[in-house]
Amino acid sequence: MEKERKIIIAGNWKMNKTVAEALDLVHGLRRELAAIKEVDIVVCPPFTALESVSKAILDSNIRLGAQNMSEHGEGAYTGEIPAGMLKEFSVGYVILGHSERRQFQREDDALISRKAAAALTANLIPIVCVGETLLERESGRTQKVVEAQIRGSLAGLSGEQMEKTVLAYEPVWAIGTGKTATSAQAQEVHAFIRKVLAALHGELIARRVRIQYGGSVKANNARELMSQPDVDGALVGGASLELRSFSDIVRNSI
Ligand code: PGA
Repeated sequence: MEKERKIIIAGNWKMNKTVAEALDLVHGLRRELAAIKEVDIVVCPPFTALESVSKAILDSNIRLGAQNMSEHGEGAYTGEIPAGMLKEFSVGYVILGHSERRQFQREDDALISRKAAAALTANLIPIVCVGETLLERESGRTQKVVEAQIRGSLAGLSGEQMEKTVLAYEPVWAIGTGKTATSAQAQEVHAFIRKVLAALHGELIARRVRIQYGGSVKANNARELMSQPDVDGALVGGASLELRSFSDIVRNSI
């Protein structure tokens, strides 16, 4: 089935891969995926590997993403990296508001929305993550939680900015656990997110926004997830660390 939106598969390497390991993987991906035109392919290494990976994917169909950035442009913010420095390495995407940052760095929706605005102003495409915990799902609060995250994390974006933004629905209970949401569960929340976007920005813009699913995506469940009408790609953690599994996910998503 031809999709209305171009599929985007991003590998979130998290805190993994030395420069040598990163290069090894990316050289393989470049070779394996050279012929793929139908999918936007993004790798998100740790900051320390951005420069080497950036050089290694020059003139290829693989794009570069970062896993976080500062809301500020420069200055006295020890340990932070701003959009401008990411752009020095031709970074095109940045993951924002990942549940691990919401949990361990206490990032909240207001901060994430400021980061998203800063990213868009610098011409970086934010991949903004939302998703409920197991407790929230079991107590029937999934939609409420996801709607609040969408409204909060994207607050203040113009329609034009919204269209460029990528969303990632990542149920926290499915991340790194081997428990994937069923394709029906994913579709239900994705459709709901699109409804919230329509209420905020109108149907036309809502139809153009790409919504990735994330949480234990593997080669053997990618096709089923991508076959859902409102699932437009995947944000892949564990399975993005190996050549075979990530390239199979990309191939199985078409
Ligand atoms: P996982 O991680 O694929 O290892 O579940 C997904 C993510 O955290 O983006």
